[in-house]
Amino acid sequence: MGKLKIGVIGAGSISDMHLQSYQSNERVELYAVCDKNTERAEEKANKYGAARVYGDYLSLLADQDIDAVSICTWNHSHAEIAIAALKAGKHVLVEKPLSTTVAEAKQMEETVKQTGKILQVGFVRRYASNTAILKNFIDADEIGEIYYAKASCIRRLGNPGGWFSDIERSGGGPLIDLGVHMIDICWYLMGKPRVKSISGNTYTKLGNRSNINNLSFYKAADYNPEINTVEDMANALIRFENGASLMVDVSFTLHAKQNEISVKLYGEKGGLEVEPELSIITEKHNTILNMTPQVDSLTFDFEQGFQNEINHFVLVCLGETETLSPVEDGLEMMKILCGIYESSEKGMEISFD
Ligand SMILES: NC(=O)c1ccc[n+]([C@@H]2O[C@H](COP(=O)([O-])OP(=O)(O)OC[C@H]3O[C@@H](n4cnc5c(N)ncnc54)[C@H](O)[C@@H]3O)[C@@H](O)[C@H]2O)c1
Repeated sequence: MGKLKIGVIGAGSISDMHLQSYQSNERVELYAVCDKNTERAEEKANKYGAARVYGDYLSLLADQDIDAVSICTWNHSHAEIAIAALKAGKHVLVEKPLSTTVAEAKQMEETVKQTGKILQVGFVRRYASNTAILKNFIDADEIGEIYYAKASCIRRLGNPGGWFSDIERSGGGPLIDLGVHMIDICWYLMGKPRVKSISGNTYTKLGNRSNINNLSFYKAADYNPEINTVEDMANALIRFENGASLMVDVSFTLHAKQNEISVKLYGEKGGLEVEPELSIITEKHNTILNMTPQVDSLTFDFEQGFQNEINHFVLVCLGETETLSPVEDGLEMMKILCGIYESSEKGMEISFD
């Protein structure tokens, strides 16, 4: 069988992770790059050795030679591009979040069913080797039933601006950008229980804090402090049908002493810490044990995560395995994220049937 021909749509920041991972996969021919900013597409195509450059995604999708695409564009275009790609007979790896609304996510799921093509959602943390280590312990029933999880991703100063802070293009702020990873990794390790109810809060109190001097932070390429229509921070308590619960908080700006990332899960037989550092907690012979796996990186290795995600996607396209992050999971995540926004707007808990 020949090599899998790949097109990458959206040639901004995260596209480098996709492009370099495809480039180092020997079963792939990195074939085309597309961006509405053609200069950017051309620059990336040259850097990674792709033969074709496109300025609009429909022309790329019309290219019969392409087997599969990565979609690395702004959130609000994920659904439109993914649906068109599936209908054009391509397999799809779409960056998180799957979409910006539940309705779009449902249409995407429907199109996957109609076309029989594969859609993998870019829940990159699922593909991290540290996640796989913990999954082994969970699957061997060494943690027992996980009944509680909590996750935080707090930036005290880190609103990237540009499209990230324009709700029309992003669909939301830190919740849809950072919270999606935090909630998904907990939900995945908890065994994907059905959501029962959500109580969420979002706050727009501090703005983007562009007034702060002498402290640098990541800015989108098109940073503009004038545009900010997203929340500063969000928190939620999510209750599942099996009785388990998940508490989460995330921010772009907050009067916090320092940035913080933590992901912790608690079961009947043991506990797990994914972040800030891989750790397994248990009890044996009336003694509590805190165990530290001896691995290369105790925290999320970004590049390795993407390489694993893309290697996995390639095997899925070649029919050799199944995706770890199917469209159904992307849809469930959209229900949770949109549920948090809805609960916050209504000022009350919302329930799911
Ligand atoms: N998995 C992760 O950890 C992770 C990290 C960062 C970003 N992302 C996701 O990746 C996506 C892109 O983020 P980014 O930081 O690379 O943004 P970016 O602004 O740096 O790049 C996006 C690119 O897409 C292009 N684009 C937008 N709409 C297009 C369209 N309709 N057709 C063609 N090109 C189009 C833009 O011109 C831009 O070059 C977002 O969905 C974001 O949530 C994921």
